[in-house]
Amino acid sequence: MSPTGTQSPRYSRILGTGSFLPADRVTNQDLAQRLAADGIETSDEWIVERTGIRARHFAVPEQASSDLALPASQAALEAAGIAAEELDLIIVATSTPDMVFPSTACLLQKKLGVHGCAAFDVQAVCSGFVYALSVADAMIKSGAANKALVVGAEVFSRILDFKDRTTCVLFGDGAGAVVLGASAEPGILATELHADARHTDILCTPGTVAGGQVVGSPFLKMDGQAVFKLAVGVLEKVARSVLEKAGKTDADIDWLIPHQANIRIMQGTAKKLKMDLNKLIVTVDEHGNTSAASVPLALDAAVRSGRVQRGDLVMLEGVGGGFTWGAALLNY
Ligand code: UT7
Repeated sequence: MSPTGTQSPRYSRILGTGSFLPADRVTNQDLAQRLAADGIETSDEWIVERTGIRARHFAVPEQASSDLALPASQAALEAAGIAAEELDLIIVATSTPDMVFPSTACLLQKKLGVHGCAAFDVQAVCSGFVYALSVADAMIKSGAANKALVVGAEVFSRILDFKDRTTCVLFGDGAGAVVLGASAEPGILATELHADARHTDILCTPGTVAGGQVVGSPFLKMDGQAVFKLAVGVLEKVARSVLEKAGKTDADIDWLIPHQANIRIMQGTAKKLKMDLNKLIVTVDEHGNTSAASVPLALDAAVRSGRVQRGDLVMLEGVGGGFTWGAALLNY
């Protein structure tokens, strides 16, 4: 409470970022060769021209999402100067959890060697990190948490059908993390989340586990063009909405970090926001689409390369299966 008896404002702020990519870097040429062995034709030219992707990383069979989340989280904790024991909340955004249950967040808690703090997963596919960040922000603002670890971690290679060239060339594995802390200074300024479940069918992995078996397809299916059209529309709209909520305009944005799925969607969004393309953070070329991990992986790359500096205004955006989308505007 302030001396006048009014509650002083409480915000959440990013204290540190981290990320991790599995060692196996697979270029488009490598992948084209692997697919050719099964009679599936693709090429570096097609993949680069349609998506901007040049390489992706694949986990080995022994590596689950929590194994990628652990080094990403440790790097974020170190950057924040926070011990894992100080966390009172862990949220992992993933659509490729280690198991049906317990949550990947609980498994990560165990691997971090701590216990007691709240831990749960958020499932919003490629919008997952923005969803998880928004939940953590609300919990910190409300006083329900003080220090939160928010992670996006995926092993999408597990759900790819390597006989379907329209999807298997697009995705990769990885993890990114941020530590959020309560702050009197504004960090996260505004967030907004959406879903429109009329479009569940255009991007889904419909299989489930029942009676000791996988029932339905365990592979990712996507109507790429339908997703493309929806993504382009919603990313501009939700960005403008969070800008308005925060009392900012598109000219104020220092860095745009959208979900890294396709360079054409990302550049289209930047142009609609009248942004210089050099303010767009791009990692899709090296990571492919890592679903919920893509935004925190790109944020960490931008921070560690010195592009995103303290005080910069950063727009994070997610879009993907559900159909889900959302944005978070923050002072880094
Ligand atoms: O993470 C959630 C968000 N996801 C997205 O944002 C993905 C959004 N969608 C996209 O990025 C694009 O729609 C794709 C990259 C998936 C596809 O690009 P496109 O320009 O929409 O291509 P298309 O699906 O229209 O396919 C064009 C042609 C087809 O051949 P025909 O019918 O014209 O003869 C495909 O069969 O390209 C063919 N094709 C390929 N050729 C070589 C499809 N995949 C491949 C491939 N290699 N891997």
